[in-house]
Amino acid sequence: MRLSSLFTLATAVATIHANPMGRRAMAVHESVSAVPSGFAHAGSISLNQEITLRIQLAQSDIAGLQAKTYAVSDPANELYGQHLTVEEVAKFVRPSAVTVSEVSEWLSEHGITAKTVSPAGDLLEITVPISKANALLGAQFNAFKHVESGKTSIRTLSYSVPASLQQHINFVHPTVAFVPPLHGVPAIKAVEVKRSAPTADAVPASCASVANPSCIQQIYGLPTAKATHSAENTIGVAGYIEQYANFADLALFLRNLRPDLVGANFSVVSIDGGINDQTQSNAGIEANLDVEMTVGLAGGVPTTFITVGEDFQDDVDGFIDIVNSILNTPVESRPTVLTTSYGFNERDLPRSLAVGICGAYTQLASVGISVLFASGDGGVGGVQSVQCTTFVPTAPSGCPFITSVGGSTGVPPQTAAALSGGGFSNYFGIPDYQAADVAAYISSIGTQYDGLYNKTGRGIPDVALQALNVEIAWEGSFWLVGGTSCASPIFAAMIALVNDRLIAAGKPVLGFLNPFLYSPAGRATFTDVTSGNNPGCNTNGFSASAGWDPVTGLGTPNFDLLLSALGV
Ligand SMILES: *[C@@H]1O[C@H](CO)[C@@H](O)[C@H](O)[C@H]1NC(C)=O
Ligand SMILES: *[C@@H]1O[C@H](CO)[C@@H](O)[C@H](O)[C@H]1NC(C)=O
Repeated sequence: MRLSSLFTLATAVATIHANPMGRRAMAVHESVSAVPSGFAHAGSISLNQEITLRIQLAQSDIAGLQAKTYAVSDPANELYGQHLTVEEVAKFVRPSAVTVSEVSEWLSEHGITAKTVSPAGDLLEITVPISKANALLGAQFNAFKHVESGKTSIRTLSYSVPASLQQHINFVHPTVAFVPPLHGVPAIKAVEVKRSAPTADAVPASCASVANPSCIQQIYGLPTAKATHSAENTIGVAGYIEQYANFADLALFLRNLRPDLVGANFSVVSIDGGINDQTQSNAGIEANLDVEMTVGLAGGVPTTFITVGEDFQDDVDGFIDIVNSILNTPVESRPTVLTTSYGFNERDLPRSLAVGICGAYTQLASVGISVLFASGDGGVGGVQSVQCTTFVPTAPSGCPFITSVGGSTGVPPQTAAALSGGGFSNYFGIPDYQAADVAAYISSIGTQYDGLYNKTGRGIPDVALQALNVEIAWEGSFWLVGGTSCASPIFAAMIALVNDRLIAAGKPVLGFLNPFLYSPAGRATFTDVTSGNNPGCNTNGFSASAGWDPVTGLGTPNFDLLLSALGV
């Protein structure tokens, strides 16, 4: 199966050639063989223009961090619940002294001093004129345009680093990553709700056409009572693409749909120049949806909306910067759950960056944060349905340390939402926790779709929740929206409410969920979804079936069953 017809990443043993600018032998570190489809040259640029580049150094023991993260997240392990401190994480992630000195010596030969932008020192940042970037990296930076959106970016088709430093450098970014503009995982189709006065207790049948908070509470057994341990338990909602969540819309939502929570609010943290303009007529649908689901379902749990801006003109950086910003936050105010309803098609990210992003979220998992991502809205065809000849897994859902949230719909027992992103990663292998599930599913479909998906890849999603006809307030009125964008914040609210009970019982918060969810006790808390499928790429997609499937994962969760499985 190909990644993309034009995308070939150089391997570590690339052609070595003499660097005309210096005495070091340079080696191509990453390259693409041509401008990727969907992008075009957009002219040359001034060599004096400055560019900011991130250099990720080789981390000392990422395998050790992964092993430790599994240990503290596996209920069968004696270390369960003993989440790491940021200092403990840094020991695994910190580059070796040799790596640091070799790379800084190379930079200083070019008169460059790097700034460290991650707590463990694995991420360096330099800002240099294009002429210097070209010389440093044997590159040819130019302007490129994403044809459909018209968005321009500065990239090179290839870059080199000294051959002797290849083992010390994971990637330099932005260089060869041609990533289409980030999508909110849903192309939300908003339909105005013709709604009579809200009723306090929705009749379950009506929940199939309008899923308001009361329906969602009934479907998943969520409590109406407020959480009591707000000081130690916060939900983080990640916001991108210059969307912000609107205070007035949240107030409208609560007044009509959670009158018992009137006055509840969210706080805002801005990184990379993220905006928080409160003009109601410009509020973001995605941002509003995400905040209304967390504030409106997890009563008593504080929500922080983290607005990630475009300082780096590149959403990929934001996905790593948000992690470093959270790691730098004191433990009391760090979220216990982080939900993100944005994602990429995996094939649009170079493997080095996908691995780098996964490593960053692994750090959050290891310190006890449940990291949730919407699985995508294009079925087997990616974040949103795209033209495809092979199935398109999404990122970063394919990272094994993330809980990927797919979509379901209807009154219980729910069926799969047809848009539910699902499939198998081409970058990450099958983690142990789901190995038997993935093997059973693949064997159950025999040779169907052979060649269209990767039989050795991590399977997504892990779970599924409501993803159609979800009622929100936006720009002063009520709408129905759809997408796994709904499902991820709903699950975040549930996890936060479970964490509240755990804290009350003097137990650690859940942290990285998957080893527990796939354990015998964890999987017993799910209602298996066995009908529906996720079409895409001119196929009917995969079918939901008994047991785990790449449409709805383990199924839909239930709050009370989760509590009893956890003994609280
Ligand atoms: C929510 O917080 C914002 C910012 O502090 C404030 O402007 C707004 O009035 C608050 N809303 C409510 C309902 O308290
Ligand atoms: C399939 O997935 C495995 C595991 O991540 C990966 O190593 C391999 O390169 C993938 N195959 C293709 C053709 O992408």
